[in-house]
Amino acid sequence: MAKRISNDQQLQQKLDELERKNQEALLGGGEKRIEQQHAKGKLTARERVLLLLDEGSFEELGKFVMHRCKDFGLDKEYYLGDGVVTGYGTVKGRLVYVFSQDFTVFGGSLSETHAEKIVKIMELAMKNGAPVIGLNDSGGARIQEGVVSLGGYADIFYRNTLASGVIPQISAIMGPCAGGAVYSPAITDFIFMVENTSFMFVTGPNVVKTVTHENVTAEELGGAQTHSSKSGVTHFACANEVECITNIKQLLSYIPQNCEDDAPVYAYEIKDEKRPALNNIIPANPNQPYDMREVINGVVDEGSFFEVHKNFAENIVVGFARIAGRSIGVVGNQPASLAGVLDIDSSVKGARFVRFCDCFNVPLLVLEDVPGFLPGTDQEWNAIITNGAKLLYAFSEATVPRVTVITRKAYGGAYDVMNSKHIGADLNYAWPTAEIAVMGAKGAAEIIFKKEIAEAADPEGKLTEKVDEYTRKFANPYRAAHRGYIDEVIYPDQTREKLIRAFEMLKNKVATLPKKKHGNIPL
Ligand code: HXC
Repeated sequence: MAKRISNDQQLQQKLDELERKNQEALLGGGEKRIEQQHAKGKLTARERVLLLLDEGSFEELGKFVMHRCKDFGLDKEYYLGDGVVTGYGTVKGRLVYVFSQDFTVFGGSLSETHAEKIVKIMELAMKNGAPVIGLNDSGGARIQEGVVSLGGYADIFYRNTLASGVIPQISAIMGPCAGGAVYSPAITDFIFMVENTSFMFVTGPNVVKTVTHENVTAEELGGAQTHSSKSGVTHFACANEVECITNIKQLLSYIPQNCEDDAPVYAYEIKDEKRPALNNIIPANPNQPYDMREVINGVVDEGSFFEVHKNFAENIVVGFARIAGRSIGVVGNQPASLAGVLDIDSSVKGARFVRFCDCFNVPLLVLEDVPGFLPGTDQEWNAIITNGAKLLYAFSEATVPRVTVITRKAYGGAYDVMNSKHIGADLNYAWPTAEIAVMGAKGAAEIIFKKEIAEAADPEGKLTEKVDEYTRKFANPYRAAHRGYIDEVIYPDQTREKLIRAFEMLKNKVATLPKKKHGNIPL
């Protein structure tokens, strides 16, 4: 909590006093403001930092920085640190840089100097190769400062972009985040929001009402539930700030410090890795759903699956896990939601996750059960073509170790897209229940035997006969395995041991893309 200083004349005297009482300046003072923050169910900026970092590891930078603007009464009111606590420390012994906005100082609004403090730690983070964690709680651009504060935002956006793919950037939204301010978190890799106390929107409820005549609350418009399930803007909706910070720490445990580093490896002793329970997951009826999370939890290290973007586009499941102590990124179609079909949202969700993993050397495991792309005008008119291509592009471009296991359906274009051998996957396995075909047997038979069925004395019987014929030929993994598109057909209970060996074999993989400035992903 910053200490309030009443006017210019007393400034030096107060600074001297604060320097003497450094500890008090950092941890004490401003009790009323702390109470106000707590009354809203929020921690203070400094409490958040202390909760995030290992005890005693925080080194604060710029705690005596003050704003420069003298307009609109700002020459009468100064706060040490100017509304943002910045510095570095460790999380589970690993270096991180952090900024934490203090809502009790001008609503956490971003001034020229506040922005400079954030930029300073971002630049240090890039030079020293460690993640930046932004704890956001701000009323946006400091209104009194005008364009100077807008410039400060742009300085941050620019650093966010330069740092993208170099160091992991994580944003936690722990209060308001409005206007153009949302674009800094949006450029970062992961966004966490806290339910009921945080919101993000470009234009707030009042402007919405004026322009579109819609009545909507801040929570409905841009709360954690909205952004975790409807828009997909946030990857995690957390019940409270403690859960939010705990989740940030967990996320960090799966990812490396920078793009030239590898994620931490946990000690693991290989034992009996057969998992008989996996043999009982696929239902006898190929149209019956099952939960792909059961497969994920059966193949990864026990309790290691950390799901990302859980409530958004539930027809695809993505998240981090470990296999024999090593981090992997998992992408699985989810038959329990929309039969695991690929649509716009799931393609974008998958693509973004794949690209994060590829930026930061996290190998990819794909668990595939996909009946194809979702048909319909809604999907076509909203560009399933362009959006589906994002996932195709993201997998094709990824140079990290890539392994696929087809558990059941791999139909049509979705077979190609879901990390097929043809687009650069390293190893592709299939369970005996896999069906690798252009489409489902019934649809296929109706098209290619249309005339024969129509002319048959018993069209129904003919259809069944043709469906059976097509099923025998294509609704299995062996045609693909004969061609080498599938490296091995494996029993479900063998999957974990196969994957342990596969990722161990691939751990030193080197693959490079053709020289280019950067590709042009279909945005
Ligand atoms: C200066 C601000 C401020 C701001 C809040 N305060 N926002 N001071 N600049 N942007 C101050 C208030 O004057 C108040 O000071 C204190 O912070 C707490 O604010 P309250 O309104 O009392 O709090 P609350 O009721 O919780 O409402 C929070 C709020 C609201 C929803 C964030 O303050 C608000 O709407 N602020 C303005 C938001 C906004 O329009 N920002 C600009 C967005 S455009 P006192 O002294 O009374 O305690 C933008 C452009 C970015 O950010 C461009 C990037 C491209």
